Amino acid sequence: MGHYLEKLAREFATVVVTGGSSGIGKAFIEQLHSLNGSLVFCNLSRTEPQFDRAGLILRHYPCDLGERDGPQAGFRALADDLQPGRILLVNNSGFGAYGPFPEPNLEHQLAMIDVNVRALTALTGLFLPLLRERGGAVVHVASTGGFQPTPYMATYGATKAFVLHWGLALERELAGSGVQVLTSCPGPTATDFFLRAGFKQRVLSPALAQTPEQVVRETLSALARGRRLRVCGWKNRILAAVGSTLPKTWVTALSAAVLRRVRLAQLKQK
Ligand SMILES: NC(=O)c1ccc[n+]([C@@H]2O[C@H](COP(=O)([O-])OP(=O)(O)OC[C@H]3O[C@@H](n4cnc5c(N)ncnc54)[C@H](OP(=O)(O)O)[C@@H]3O)[C@@H](O)[C@H]2O)c1
Repeated sequence: MGHYLEKLAREFATVVVTGGSSGIGKAFIEQLHSLNGSLVFCNLSRTEPQFDRAGLILRHYPCDLGERDGPQAGFRALADDLQPGRILLVNNSGFGAYGPFPEPNLEHQLAMIDVNVRALTALTGLFLPLLRERGGAVVHVASTGGFQPTPYMATYGATKAFVLHWGLALERELAGSGVQVLTSCPGPTATDFFLRAGFKQRVLSPALAQTPEQVVRETLSALARGRRLRVCGWKNRILAAVGSTLPKTWVTALSAAVLRRVRLAQLKQK
């Protein structure tokens, strides 16, 4: 790994990750630990992460970020365990749901807003005084789905549009404060995300999909370079750039056509 990434990882004492039990969050812990073995990791998720790594200092705080008091309870539990020094907060927990609104049910849709938007906003707010005092960084894991409306994943895309816009706006407000903010937008990534979102067939095009390791490496490189936004993968960067120039109604129709095709294929399979 690059020397500049090791330098980045040495800048922090504690890394707080949400959703380190799986996929991209797990890859953040693995890569940052490889870069700096003395980092202390604090994980907030419902399931305890499983690692087979000698020397990894990982504290797991069981936490449902979809619950009303989830972010506050998680913050209270870990606040006393924070090492002196700079903090990296990785707001990664999130999930989607595939199907016409409100499938699978309204509760699930509202929980998605709670985890993807409310918990991310709450945790950032709770950590902000500490981050300002000690210096540090926040990484928000948004999605390329945040660049356009996403019919059949309407709520998910809208939560990620929030993360994208909110993250970029917050970065400007905090410029010069010693708190760096990076919004990372992965495209399709090979994790449990799709199964959990209710996709039944293989939807990841091998030509477009990235591994969680690739997403994390690109995100950390962007953080080391002081970037504000990273769309992961050059093909996703082209799609996001082209999509952003089209009228919103066109890009919504295109997105509907793509996601409807997956839905029809799934219905045929039943
Ligand atoms: N995979 C993709 O194609 C893709 C693309 C763009 C963006 N993303 C974003 O990347 C992030 C990570 O997703 P992933 O792909 O790594 O999927 P994943 O493997 O399903 O991981 C999702 C993580 O979120 C955590 N989480 C879900 N609900 C939670 C809750 N109520 N409370 C606390 N934690 C919760 C899960 O932990 P527990 O289940 O243990 O609680 C899990 O660790 C998400 O924000 C996702 O939207 C993914």
